[in-house]
Amino acid sequence: MMKPPFKNPRASHNFQGRSCSIVGVGSYVPAKILTNHDLEKMVDTSDEWITTRTGIKERRIAAENEWTSTMAARAAERALKMAKVPAADVDLIITATITPDMPFPATACLVQEEIGARRAAAFDMEAACSGFIYGLEIGQQFIMSRTYNTVLVIGAEKLSSIVDWSDRNTCVLFGDGAGAAVLQNRENSHGLLTTFIGADGEKGDLLYMPAGGSRCPATRQSVDGRLHYLRMDGKQSFKNAVQAMESAARQALQRCELDISRIKCVIPHQANRRIIDAVAERLGAAPEQLFVNLEKYGNTSAASVAIALDEAVASGRLNRGDLILLVGFGAGLTWGAAVIEW
Ligand code: ACO
Repeated sequence: MMKPPFKNPRASHNFQGRSCSIVGVGSYVPAKILTNHDLEKMVDTSDEWITTRTGIKERRIAAENEWTSTMAARAAERALKMAKVPAADVDLIITATITPDMPFPATACLVQEEIGARRAAAFDMEAACSGFIYGLEIGQQFIMSRTYNTVLVIGAEKLSSIVDWSDRNTCVLFGDGAGAAVLQNRENSHGLLTTFIGADGEKGDLLYMPAGGSRCPATRQSVDGRLHYLRMDGKQSFKNAVQAMESAARQALQRCELDISRIKCVIPHQANRRIIDAVAERLGAAPEQLFVNLEKYGNTSAASVAIALDEAVASGRLNRGDLILLVGFGAGLTWGAAVIEW
């Protein structure tokens, strides 16, 4: 048998032939489009400012009767369809989100009911924009340990529900949507080669939502003070995003003893075109290696990498055996990267 031209870190452990594959991907975005020109009528901004500073042209906004769980369910159904796996076979649903339908029950439980995955265990986890990569890391642990055979990992957000639509510093950046992946133990296809995740709680104040939790429960004052909206230090978030994404990507590549030139498709968190270009330049990735769709959706936090992965697969640019690098960064701070052999 020919030796693979890169190191599979999983092979060095005693996994007894076990491997974790992404056997299906899917995504869903709401129909309503909010363009930069629409935003010009809402706050003091311009299409020119938003485009040159971020690369975003439009974003999707969920309807009133659409929630994180319903968008997550649509993305999950599409991923299960591609995987040819019935919902009844799902063992575990992990939903990464910072905008759950409600504090409890978990959005993953609502998804379980919505898609009819009757026997699945279900929980939510939160790592903001790194959520989907964190979810892949957690999901693959259950597969590799033989605890479960089929794990559904979803990144889903209705960020429009926590964006302050009177704050031009933030409202132009975010959008709604969901993406999902089905993980199974399948030999030699679409294998998750490595995942790497990290965090720095010291910088939690760069991007956060002050109220609505146990520290500052909802009161008339918290509502009047607009504390139920996200707050962000844009410049510091930018700086930390570039550093953390470069470092996470390098860690993941190093574990596989891979050079960036071997990666067919780099799928970064879609927050800002300038962040993506800066990370690519530091890594030495060429523009044609990058997959970027943020001009259509803005920053969809935990859904961003999942939607982009689904669209990259649907675009037909990936062939069997191609290597994909996922890399993300988010509030927390959190970061993560993953290498997949497609
Ligand atoms: N329209 C017009 N002017 C604006 C807007 C807007 N929408 N937003 C801010 N401005 C103004 C500010 O008021 C400020 O004006 P002032 O200088 O008179 O005070 C000025 O533009 C700010 O300009 P810069 O500081 O040069 O803006 P910058 O180049 O830093 O871009 C941006 C701002 C786009 C927010 C950038 O910092 C950024 O993208 N940061 C990362 C944000 C992000 O992606 N966060 C999430 C990542 S992590 C995660 O996804 C969870």
